[in-house]
Amino acid sequence: MVSLADYAGREQAYVKHVLLESYLERLVHKVASRYDHVAYVDGFAGPWLSANERFEDTSFGIALSALRRAKATWKQNGRDVRMSAFLVERDKTAYGRLAQVPERYPDVMIKTHCADFLDVAPTILGEIPSSAFAFFLIDPKGWRVPLKLLAPLLARSNSEVVFNFMFDFINRAANINEPKVVAGLDELIPFGKWRAALAGGDRNGGLSPEERNEILVSAFSDSLRQIGNYGYVAETAVLRPTRDRPLYSLLYCTRRKEGIEVFRDCQIAALEEQSRTRAAVKIGHAETTTGQGEIFHSLHEMGPDDLQKYLQYEHDEATRRILELTPAQPGSILYEQLWPQILARSVVRRVDVNRIVARLRKENKLRIPDWEKRRQVPQDSYRLQRA
Ligand SMILES: C[S@@+](CC[C@H](N)C(=O)[O-])C[C@H]1O[C@@H](n2cnc3c(N)ncnc32)[C@H](O)[C@@H]1O
Repeated sequence: MVSLADYAGREQAYVKHVLLESYLERLVHKVASRYDHVAYVDGFAGPWLSANERFEDTSFGIALSALRRAKATWKQNGRDVRMSAFLVERDKTAYGRLAQVPERYPDVMIKTHCADFLDVAPTILGEIPSSAFAFFLIDPKGWRVPLKLLAPLLARSNSEVVFNFMFDFINRAANINEPKVVAGLDELIPFGKWRAALAGGDRNGGLSPEERNEILVSAFSDSLRQIGNYGYVAETAVLRPTRDRPLYSLLYCTRRKEGIEVFRDCQIAALEEQSRTRAAVKIGHAETTTGQGEIFHSLHEMGPDDLQKYLQYEHDEATRRILELTPAQPGSILYEQLWPQILARSVVRRVDVNRIVARLRKENKLRIPDWEKRRQVPQDSYRLQRA
């Protein structure tokens, strides 16, 4: 289990790992019911500032535990699922620790590489049978990752990806005119008119940090979507522990609508954990820097909760999008086509979308002719029409 005690001074990694742990646990268990082989690939594995001897505070440690648990559970049910992991680390010292990992997990086939991930990605890809389900974690410390070089990996079928987009570095690099930096960023974000949007904003009086974030993250999401042919790409912004500024964004890519459904559940739980952690870290920070811990504590408790405001905004946006995407009668859309589109664009859970649709029906804003008596929630086969 991921524990906050292992993350002093790097609470942002705690949030990333809470999300990975809860998502991988559910993903691996689920896909192992259909696939005989599940592969985890960690392209930039570390260990990076790991404080825990059993690597419970690293991405690969979290993933290996999820693979192990799912394998054991399915074995009890008479199903033998092959689990494998490919872990890559370029730094020799970090690799020295990574090389100790395979012996701890004899139940998982683990291959480690001391190499540049971009060089060994084709070999790894060749070793994963096409019938296996693969999950790729791409978590570089920087941004020198030419996305098109990863195209065969991103476009692999039966796969999902989490890519850590290092927004803070990338945002600063986007202001640098050195040819090497310009070329590097163009390779990372090959699609979208993001440079023109940034320059246009600067000419018109400057962009807010939020606007720059929106431009860069959506261009990168579109690049991932296009290169990997993903139906759904969802962002989770991870904030600086003591300041309300995005540090990086985790981009989750899937082609399965069940994937986006589970991911949103895990994401909202991780955001709630982030909110709690940041409050605790801010209080600790204020106590050490001002010595007025108690005053700060009560001020914080009285202040508006940013997360609740954000989730309310996403909820309102989801409501607006449901009405926008539902054709006016006599046209219609099947609910199974609508809800994944809403989850792909808004940070809401499937249960929230169900409730919004039921409410819009009661308010006569939506017509659902197939609605059966005693049903509380819309069913996939229902047709929806805007009244
Ligand atoms: C952010 S850390 C990884 C953290 C890890 N994913 C986790 O969450 O526990 C990035 C790691 O990638 C390594 N690295 C950087 N560039 C690399 C490359 N081109 N290929 C492989 N590893 C690289 C760094 O040495 C560092 O250990």
